[in-house]
Amino acid sequence: MMTDAQATIDDMRARAETELGAAGTMDDLTAWERAYLGAQGEVTLFLRGLASLPANQRPIAGRGGNALKNELTAAWEARRVVLSAADLQQRLANDAVDVTLPGRQPILGASHPVSRMIDELSEIFALMGFQTVFGPEVETAHYNFDVLNIPKDHPARDVWDTFYVDLPGEIVLRTHTSPMQGRVMERQDPPVRVVVPGRVYRYEAQDASHEWMLHQLEGLAVDRNITLADLKGVLSEMARQLFGPDRRTRFRCDFFPFVEPGVDFAVDCAICGGAGCRVCKGTGWLEMGGAGMVHPNVLRNVGYDPDVYSGFAFGLGIERLIMMRSGVDDIRAFAANDLRFLRQFARAA
Ligand code: DAH
Repeated sequence: MMTDAQATIDDMRARAETELGAAGTMDDLTAWERAYLGAQGEVTLFLRGLASLPANQRPIAGRGGNALKNELTAAWEARRVVLSAADLQQRLANDAVDVTLPGRQPILGASHPVSRMIDELSEIFALMGFQTVFGPEVETAHYNFDVLNIPKDHPARDVWDTFYVDLPGEIVLRTHTSPMQGRVMERQDPPVRVVVPGRVYRYEAQDASHEWMLHQLEGLAVDRNITLADLKGVLSEMARQLFGPDRRTRFRCDFFPFVEPGVDFAVDCAICGGAGCRVCKGTGWLEMGGAGMVHPNVLRNVGYDPDVYSGFAFGLGIERLIMMRSGVDDIRAFAANDLRFLRQFARAA
């Protein structure tokens, strides 16, 4: 019987040593320790069971068992030192940062060409005494049409040209920046000198020169003795600032319900010098927008006396200006979010 206890001890030692030798990670080691030396480990249970052994085996089992326990504890301790050093090496190697690698280039944002043009125009007009103001994109038909002398039966009021947010309530997405004329004049007395950049919306088929959303810049000046000459001077100066000092401007009669007389104005094409090219479609002229002397009805609608005050107004298409200056031939490029297009306008700050 003596051999039984010794055999059990030898067997435990053999397996424990083999398995400890095979433990390659700290996790393996923890599992091994639990299997042999833990509270429910084989060696622990063996020693705890001594009392139930026949008396003649107890001394051998006790001495041998305790010796095994000490041996395995020392071996475990030695293995733990080796494995934890290896573990640390491994983690250091994995987490190593190569400080000689070049950094990742962050992608730098830049203003959209439309925003840049709005900033540029605001500055040009600021130098001529115009304040930049902003108005609501969701507008009432009252300001979008009525105040501007646009009659109830005007085709632009048709549901097919205007996005109605609320048809019976006559709430629209503004179709132009002109409604701010009424809002500005209603809240102040002359002199008025403002420009209004912003988005406008039109329910129409999209093509290379039509978008359902685009940007305009409205201008309005009202005071005593304002004449068409002031309008021409201001717009010619703007054209020179935008397109260079040699540019000529052209004003032709046109009709808009809120001005009298009304004009369309153009600048001679800077790309071909007026000879005719792709950008000006062979005409030598680039049309910039509409303008005119504020209609007496509009002045009356906001409570100004047309016998005392006069003024001019104009409206520019922002995308159109950029297209003309940079030779862009499709207005849809501005809202398409293609970085290859947008990057061409980004300058380093
Ligand atoms: N609001 C006009 C449009 O969107 C443009 C315009 C024309 C504005 C003449 C004006 C103006 O202020 O006087 O087509």
